[in-house]
Amino acid sequence: MSEIFDVAANAYERADISEDDIARAKALLKAHAGIVLPDHRRDAVVRVITQRARATARGDTGSYLSALATQTQSPEWDEFTAAFTINHTAFFREAHHFRKLEAFLRGRRSPISIWCCAASTGEEPYSIAMTLRETVPAAAVPGVILATDVDSRAIDAARAGVYTLARVEPVGDARLKKYFHRGRGAQAGRVRVKPELASLVEFGAANLCADPAGWPLAAREFDAIFCRNVLIYFDHATQRRVLQALFARLKPQGLIFVGHSENFSQIVPGLKLLGQTVYVRDG
Ligand SMILES: C[S@@+](CC[C@H](N)C(=O)[O-])C[C@H]1O[C@@H](n2cnc3c(N)ncnc32)[C@H](O)[C@@H]1O
Repeated sequence: MSEIFDVAANAYERADISEDDIARAKALLKAHAGIVLPDHRRDAVVRVITQRARATARGDTGSYLSALATQTQSPEWDEFTAAFTINHTAFFREAHHFRKLEAFLRGRRSPISIWCCAASTGEEPYSIAMTLRETVPAAAVPGVILATDVDSRAIDAARAGVYTLARVEPVGDARLKKYFHRGRGAQAGRVRVKPELASLVEFGAANLCADPAGWPLAAREFDAIFCRNVLIYFDHATQRRVLQALFARLKPQGLIFVGHSENFSQIVPGLKLLGQTVYVRDG
């Protein structure tokens, strides 16, 4: 999965699509997933609603959007949302965050719980799992990582834990041997995460913009939350709401990691910038 909808979509019959439909599609996406589409992604909107109207045999885009708006529990919402999400990610992306996590975890004696809340196809939660495993002894300190995303197909791929050799390159040879099985035959050129590492991660779908009461967390609080490169797609009000809800799930002195271009200083009282896009719950 990638930024597949950033390409132009000249092949589609724009004449059939009214500006009203485009505005409705953008409003539905914002209301459902918090994602604010910039004007330059207009072609993506045209393409997606044209394709989905055809795929669902709804006929015209207006009828498709009306059905979406009224059927709030329809599985079609997954398809619609997934068509706009950008799943770009990598193993050990922004390496300084993993060094910070290592320093934070070292010497811990109590159980550790980490939430990766925009986990995409799994590279980020597995990087957290490797860091956890190498920092605190498994036998003495139980650890669990919850990995969620609004895009359930990305989460299915994450759960499968199969990657090309090119994707796992940032992991390095030693970790590749330790944590991945190499594919053979039809799977040559691919690797699969070993069960020892996979067992540290629980996967599920969760929409950060939905009511936090519905997040699949039971009553958990987290030592650290990774919320990287997702808040940037939301407007300010949604960013604030999501950060407040994440803050409420953080243990005192717990950390929130955000993406490299994201700055949320002073957005939530009690959440202090520790440096380099890492925030701490102060108190
Ligand atoms: C650019 S990727 C970032 C992946 C990873 N966090 C990283 O930094 O490498 C953004 C991810 O956010 C997810 N996302 C978008 N809106 C979301 C929402 N409302 N709730 C949860 N995840 C969302 C997308 O599906 C996508 O997988």
